[in-house]
Amino acid sequence: MYQTRIAGTGSYLPERVLTNFDLEKLVDTSDQWIRERTGIERRHMAAPGQTTSDLAYEASQRALKAANMSADDIDMIIFGTVTGDQLMPSTACYLQKKLGCAKTPAFDLAAACSGFVYSLTIAEHFIRAGTYKTILVVGAEVLHNFVNYKDRETCILFGDGAGAFVVTRAEKNDANVILSSHLMSVASLADLLVLPAGGSKQPITHEILDQGGHYMKMKGREIFKNAVQTMSACCEETLKQNNVKAEDISWLVPHQANFRIMEAVAERFGFPLEKVVNIVHEMGNTSAATIPVAFDTAVRDGRIKRGQLILLTTFGAGLTAGSMLLRY
Ligand code: ACO
Repeated sequence: MYQTRIAGTGSYLPERVLTNFDLEKLVDTSDQWIRERTGIERRHMAAPGQTTSDLAYEASQRALKAANMSADDIDMIIFGTVTGDQLMPSTACYLQKKLGCAKTPAFDLAAACSGFVYSLTIAEHFIRAGTYKTILVVGAEVLHNFVNYKDRETCILFGDGAGAFVVTRAEKNDANVILSSHLMSVASLADLLVLPAGGSKQPITHEILDQGGHYMKMKGREIFKNAVQTMSACCEETLKQNNVKAEDISWLVPHQANFRIMEAVAERFGFPLEKVVNIVHEMGNTSAATIPVAFDTAVRDGRIKRGQLILLTTFGAGLTAGSMLLRY
């Protein structure tokens, strides 16, 4: 049984920016409404032709540099995404090609916004079993192609981005390791956020495209309520199993969907807001990318330091959710 340490992190947000003021020109909304209801001020959008694996490549290179490693050191790639380059093959395979790590196993994992925490959990299990030593874990999305910019409830929320962790087998006495993770999926809530067309249920036809079946559809208020409940439940479980109190944690890094959701989860723990890593104003909801991007941002600006106890928590379409406790 081996333990897993985070060797390096990286992130990348595309240059193109869509502000709340830009959205005011597209739908009946206002900068003030968006900021008050979500905390979001701007989101980043991939350039035409810039793919999910392109974004992931930039984040991965930064993570490898931070880990002082090269692509040759990677034994496996796990890629959390629901907006890959194509339906087939896995976007992980395109990333592998770009990185030049010839024969490592590489696959995508679809758990929507929870994709990164799910992927990191799987990586930790492969390392724990001794099967692989070093794994590249990515969360990346180009969501804007699946957003209906006539639907004011969804188009204000989403952006594009990528984050990556290089995780590796820890030395025997290393205390800076992943401690535990707790995942869940609530079957009765599967239809709260959907992208209906393009699969076996609704193959793409001209008619489906005319109806906008290729855009995300969401029951916002229901998601809000269940996001707070599931993330809080996962966090409680994680703290309990590790015999850790909220005040022992240095930083909470939650899925960045809406500032009010993060605030509500923090309140449930009596957790101070100053210790919540929040960059939702800068990028909106980038689905599987939010946690690694927020984490990497806080590492690089000096908030997250080696030795600190960090709690990650997430929710996403499915309704998937999860939490992970780690010492960085
Ligand atoms: N601008 C102005 N008014 C708006 C907008 C907008 N962009 N969107 C909705 N409204 C209106 C509504 O029509 C409604 O009007 P009404 O009272 O006349 O009916 C009013 O504002 C209030 O609507 P609510 O839905 O109650 O607003 P709420 O405070 O719940 O905020 C929001 C809406 C931001 C969508 C919120 O519910 C939310 O963030 N939900 C979670 C969504 C989410 O996180 N989705 C991602 C899931 S994770 C994943 O896997 C990708």
